[in-house]
Formats: sequence, C-alpha cells, structure tokens
Amino acid sequence: KKKVILDVDTGSDDAIAIMLALLSPGIDVQAICTCSGNVDISHTTDNTLRILSRMGRNIPVYRGLPAPLVKKLYKERNVIKKLEVVIEGKTVKMHDDQLNLPEPGFKEEDIPAIFYYKEVLSNSKVPINIITTGPLSNLATVFSLWPELVNRIGSLTIMGGGHGLYNNNYGEGNFWHDPEAAQVVLNSGIVPTIVPLDATHQSIITIDEIDMLRNQNNFCSEFAAGLLEQRMKLHTANQPLHLPDSATLHDVVAVAAFLDPKVLVGVKDVRCIIGFTGSAEGHCSFDRRESKGKNNCRFAMSADRERFVRLFLETFALAKDIQ
Ligand code: BDR
Ligand code: CA
Repeated sequence: KKKVILDVDTGSDDAIAIMLALLSPGIDVQAICTCSGNVDISHTTDNTLRILSRMGRNIPVYRGLPAPLVKKLYKERNVIKKLEVVIEGKTVKMHDDQLNLPEPGFKEEDIPAIFYYKEVLSNSKVPINIITTGPLSNLATVFSLWPELVNRIGSLTIMGGGHGLYNNNYGEGNFWHDPEAAQVVLNSGIVPTIVPLDATHQSIITIDEIDMLRNQNNFCSEFAAGLLEQRMKLHTANQPLHLPDSATLHDVVAVAAFLDPKVLVGVKDVRCIIGFTGSAEGHCSFDRRESKGKNNCRFAMSADRERFVRLFLETFALAKDIQ
C-alpha cells in the first residue's frame, strides 16, 4: 500500500475524492490536511471530519492555512454571491458550506497542517505521496519554510490548472484561488503531475453511470451519486462548457490518476507559468522559450474516460459494508 496525504478543500468533488482514496486497496491514507478554497477553512475542515466520521474512519485531520498567500480571501472578494444559480426555482450556491452529513464524531488535530507536514516528511522512513485537490497554500508554505523537505516526497499529484479550459475567468479554481502558491510549488523543484481541467473535462460521468453508482446500495455510492446529481444540475444551469446529462468530478480524477497513471492521456513535460493578475489570475501558460531542461511539471492534456469510470465504479463497489 502506498502512503498518501490528501490536501483538500472539501467541497463536493473533494468529498468523493476522499472516499475513493479511503476505499482504494492500494492507498493508505496517513492524514488529511485542509485548506481554504471552495468554502472557508472552518467548513472545509468540518466537511472533511464529517465524511471521515460517517465512513467510520478516524484518520487525523490537520487544519491548514485560512487564506491564500497573497490574495484577499474568497469571501472578501465577494465571489461567493456570484456562484449562485437557480435550479428548479430555488437559489443554490455553487459550493455548499456544509455537506449534508451528521456532526463529526471526532475533532481535528491540535497542530496546524504545515507543522504536521514538517514532522512527517522529516521522519518518515518510507516515501510519502501527496495528492492535492484544493489550492496549494499549505504546500507552498512548507516548501518556502523548509525547502529540503521537497526531496522527501515520493510523488505529488495536483488537481489544478487548465491550459485550454478555465472555470474562473482564464484560470482554474484551485490555481485561481491561490496563484502565487501554485507558482511557488512549481518553482520548488518537485515536478508534480498536474491533473488540469483539460483532463477532468474528458473524464466526466454520465447520468446512466451515476445511476449505476447509486444502485450499488451502500452509503458511499449513494452519497456520491447524490452529490454528482447535484453537480450535474449545477453544471447544466451554470456552465455551458459542460456536456448535458453528465458531471465533472475534477478531484476524483487526481486520486484515480495516482492509482492508475494510464487514466491520464497526453501527459506533457512542460514549464508551466501561472498568471497573477486580472483575468489571467491562475492562468497556466507553457513557456517553450525557457523550457530546455527546466520543465517544472507533467501536465495531462486529456484522460481515458472509460478507464477512469471503470476504476471509480469498481472501487466504490467495495464499500458494500458501509451502510
Ligand atoms: C477545482 O476547484 C474546486 O471547486 C473543486 O473542488 C476542484 O478542486 C476545480 O476547478
Ligand atoms: Ca477541491
């Protein structure tokens, strides 16, 4: 089993990504670190605790940074308001503050996420793999304070960015939320695998597959199916980019790609540069001029949808005992 730390901003697709990681026989989740993103840090931490509690998995949760490195907080920028859509006559937020789950049965750990990273990366005898599905504020801080820890990481898989597809002006949500953090991580020397919108929009789930998921009749599959159905409605109401009768599951693709690299297609070694201002905030450019010997990531331009969905459904079927 590979040891993994998840870094999340839970969030509906994060919740499904967490479930996939916990259900995967090949992954041993050591801890989950939270960050602000989809909603603020209290809610992303609380949502993470709720999903773990409901699954009966008392995995340590470390609260991460409450804000992006340089930018003002999401809420102060008044973006939340814009992310409301009307579905079937009701106003719905694009990002729910709270997952519809019971109060968590345990609490977050006492030490902040960045100190947990320092401790575990300094002392672990085996490589630790990290999968991020939120803004990169935590890792950027860790790499700035303790750059030597970069060499202690087995692999880093990041859901973030987009080269030809965007969902916040000309940026992708996670990189848009903390663009400076994304650049710090790309400058750190680690060469992560990036799972951008270009790949996640190729690995959608259809309405029929959501039904297959629900029919697996266990808590995880039914809960994920409910979230996906809601995402499908939000997409249809709000984002013409999305295909009808289907949902994207961005963060889930990152966990799947870690488990099975062939889920990603057209992976390019590139030197990716992040935009910081105006409508280019979080935008990914490829600098071919400077790229010789200086590629800073492996960027997936597409994905194998069938392979992804098969892995996803087969793994959720393993949750049969969680009711
Ligand atoms: C990413 O942004 C967040 O809204 C999602 O959870 C995902 O991590 C997609 O752009
Ligand atoms: Ca996320």
